[in-house]
Amino acid sequence: MHASDIVFALKEAAEGPHALQNVRRVLNDWRERIDEIAAALDFIPGTDGNANQAFYRTPELSVLKVLFPSGRRTPPHDHGSWAAILVLSGSEKNTIYRRGDDGLEYANEAVLTPGAILTMPADAAHVAECLGGEPAIGLHVYGGDVLGVERSMWDPETLEEHPLKWDHYEILARKASDAGKPPLT
Ligand SMILES: [Fe+2]
Repeated sequence: MHASDIVFALKEAAEGPHALQNVRRVLNDWRERIDEIAAALDFIPGTDGNANQAFYRTPELSVLKVLFPSGRRTPPHDHGSWAAILVLSGSEKNTIYRRGDDGLEYANEAVLTPGAILTMPADAAHVAECLGGEPAIGLHVYGGDVLGVERSMWDPETLEEHPLKWDHYEILARKASDAGKPPLT
C-alpha cells in the first residue's frame, strides 16, 4: 500500500451524499491492515505542526496522519466538517461534546485502541488525548479543508468559545495537557 492508494480510496468514498458512511466503510476494510497503512505513512512525522500531518488537502477532503505524544491532550475543538479516525497504534481517549444552549455539554467518551474507528458529525466537538506511554497515531479523515476552514475551540478551563487559530490552539493544548482530565468529566 502507498499513501496515494489511501488517498484515492478515501477520495472516491467521500464523493456523493453518504460520504461519512462510505469513508467509515473503507476504514473498516482497513482495520486488519493498519500495519500496512502505518508503513505507507512512515515518512510523515504526524506531529510538530500541520505541515507534518496533512498529506491530502482540498476544500472537500483532508487526510492526515496525526501523532499525539504521551501526555498530550487537545482543548475541545470542532472540525468544520464530519471527521473519521482510524487508530494505527497506541491508545487515545476521545471525549465527545455537543453544543447546548449554554455552551458545550458532555456527550460521551470512547477509548480507542489500534484498529478502532471513531466518526463524528460536523456539529460534534471533542477532546483527544494520548493514553499510556506510547504515542497515539491515527489516520484522520475530514470532509473539508480542516486546516483552512473556520472552526471553533474552547478554553479547557473556562469553556469560552474561540475561533480556532493555531498559535492560540497550542496555548490551550498546553493548558489542556496540564489539566488532570478533559473538561466536564
Ligand atoms: Fe479533532
